[in-house]
Amino acid sequence: MDNDNECVISVKELTKIYGSVKAVDRVSFCVKDREIFGFLGPNGAGKTTTVRMLVGLTTISSGNALVYGYNVVKDYKNVRKIIGVVPDVSNLYLELTCFQNLLFSAKMYDVPKGMREERINYLLKFFGLWKFRNVKFKNLSRGLKRRLTIAAALVHKPKVLFLDEPTSGLDVMSRRILWTQLKELNRQEVTIFLTTHNVYEAFHISDRIAIINKGRIVAIGSPKELSKRFSTQEVIEVAFYPSKMSTKDLSEHIKGMLSVKRVGNHFEIVPLNKNSVIEGIVRYAKSRGLEISMLRLRSADAEELFLKIVGETK
Ligand SMILES: Nc1ncnc2c1ncn2[C@@H]1O[C@H](COP(=O)(O)OP(=O)(O)OP(=O)(O)O)[C@@H](O)[C@H]1O
Ligand SMILES: [Mg+2]
Repeated sequence: MDNDNECVISVKELTKIYGSVKAVDRVSFCVKDREIFGFLGPNGAGKTTTVRMLVGLTTISSGNALVYGYNVVKDYKNVRKIIGVVPDVSNLYLELTCFQNLLFSAKMYDVPKGMREERINYLLKFFGLWKFRNVKFKNLSRGLKRRLTIAAALVHKPKVLFLDEPTSGLDVMSRRILWTQLKELNRQEVTIFLTTHNVYEAFHISDRIAIINKGRIVAIGSPKELSKRFSTQEVIEVAFYPSKMSTKDLSEHIKGMLSVKRVGNHFEIVPLNKNSVIEGIVRYAKSRGLEISMLRLRSADAEELFLKIVGETK
């Protein structure tokens, strides 16, 4: 178990119920000081709902959460001062310039008057926005908009930064720049809690990752630990001759597959049960008079690992 003293975010049995839907179901985890904590899950897993509960944007159905020792509900006023929040949809003003938006945020967060400009200028430079400081938010590219939204969440030097899918919709270049900036920020000043549905991103940027699926946490660990834990996972590559069949046809006739996709002339199968899939392949080929022109196993990559972890917990 995690030692609670080490946790700067300590979440216990956090639950959110919408009518009959358990959006977040008894989620517990601990985020350590100055780490990048990735919260990884598919669409609808409960990522946004979890963040919203932690930052006081929605009520908690049951359970509790502490941020630097402050209860996120009872001590909300104190929590608000030490967290920065970057929502999945930007909350900045279209008609204000970069500088004006940051100034507005600084006022909102009660940054002392004498310190505002210095902090704003620092952030504009840090995020490569200095030359855009007098450009209206609405005229920025998507990547720059995202950076300014993050800058606005940092005006008051929070101890923790929550980001909900900060790189979604960005191109590869903008995404990489943002990763570098987030890593640098983390090194310099803040603990980072970041949600993503991108497996590669989670494994690339996080010190530790919690994987959430259908409201429940299904695995927590460092990228290395998670990879190791599932390192026995293999992918089956198979090709048939002739090879006209569809992936749908395969999934209907071969049992024990987590996923199957076609790559060129062969299929890649993530098995839940390796033996039963191999038996299924042989039976399938036999019953249709097909030749198995290739059959081999290889170890899984991060994305397949994720499928495996999420799939095992259905
Ligand atoms: N305000 C709401 N009212 C009812 N149900 C909701 C509400 N907000 C979220 N949900 C449901 O809760 C579940 C979790 O949603 P949430 O937005 O937290 O997922 P997510 O992991 O952020 O997904 P995405 O990757 O699509 O952003 C979903 O089933 C969603 O439909
Ligand atoms: Mg979301």
